[in-house]
Amino acid sequence: SEAELDDRIRAAKRTLGERVVILGHFYQREEVVAHADYVGDSFQLANAAKAHPEAEAIVFCGVHFMAETADLLSQPEQAVILPNLAAGCSMADMADIDQVEECWEQLADVYGDMDATDAEGLVPVIPVTYMNSSAAIKGFVGRHGGIVCTSSNARTVLEWAFARGRRVLFFPDQHLGRNTAKAMGVPLEQMPMWNPNKPLGGASATELETARVILWHGFCSVHRRFTVDQIDKARAEHPGVRVIVHPECPMAVVDASDESGSTDYIRRAIEAATEPTTFAIGTEVNLVQRLAAEHPQHEIFCLDPVVCPCSTMYRIHPGYLAWVLEGLVEGEVRNRITVPRDVADPARVALERMLAAKP
Ligand code: 13P
Ligand code: SF4
Repeated sequence: SEAELDDRIRAAKRTLGERVVILGHFYQREEVVAHADYVGDSFQLANAAKAHPEAEAIVFCGVHFMAETADLLSQPEQAVILPNLAAGCSMADMADIDQVEECWEQLADVYGDMDATDAEGLVPVIPVTYMNSSAAIKGFVGRHGGIVCTSSNARTVLEWAFARGRRVLFFPDQHLGRNTAKAMGVPLEQMPMWNPNKPLGGASATELETARVILWHGFCSVHRRFTVDQIDKARAEHPGVRVIVHPECPMAVVDASDESGSTDYIRRAIEAATEPTTFAIGTEVNLVQRLAAEHPQHEIFCLDPVVCPCSTMYRIHPGYLAWVLEGLVEGEVRNRITVPRDVADPARVALERMLAAKP
């Protein structure tokens, strides 16, 4: 039962003490968040993974790419554990390393030497990957002078990239790329989308010549469900409503909202509201429901009435958490995530560039 699992997790945690740190993403279910030492967005959790060198093990309640990132940023002898290995991210899977390598070769045919700088000291393209990507993709980016971003620092990271390159190749999330670049004043005509199944990504040579941001064709299946109609309905039914959405939502949805930002931005915006307010939120439902429970003075609801969970985040069932913790108690490391050395070294470079990038 739920109560039994809760007791087992508590007992194992008590036995392990400081030997283990449990990190939980905002989208995790309540029964998991209850046991996390740190709850945060993907940027905060990457920092948390780096900040606990004393722990033998980091149990990451989130999805695979987050656990890989934790492995890259933690100490080599620390074990990073993903309670359920089937907790992936469909968006991260949309940028396949072979397709990305192929894209880069085709771009080199158009732009020439990818390492050569022009009169202004800029290379033709800087690759930027969203945190929501495999370690292999982060490694690619690291090897080609690029950088990682999260939804909380995408703008800062794009500024970093534009200071070094004429253009950005942004993957996997077309929406975060488009929404961020648009907010920075990049015209839509200068953001062609790369379709890996077509020659030159389906773009013309002229489009690629004038491009500022080349977008990859990925998206988040949770956030793409939000619509402008839902926002119109929320405004009609709740005059004065504040609509806040995640930048993984399509551009029209971000444009129709009042504000957009990372999961932690959404949390802080609600926390900062001094007057009782109605909030319509466009992000994963577990976070929205938790925020609603924590802030009874406000009315907080998810824009999608049919509930909008991230099915892979949900795969971290408390039963798996109990199982990996009890493994540690018995001296057995279960479900360890290890990034191979040849990928890890360049991937870490790309991550460290992000951690050092200043607004
Ligand atoms: P953030 O936690 O960085 O806002 O990202 C949301 C997300 O989709 C994580 O998978
Ligand atoms: Fe991936 Fe979307 Fe789930 Fe985040 S919410 S883990 S981007 S599928």
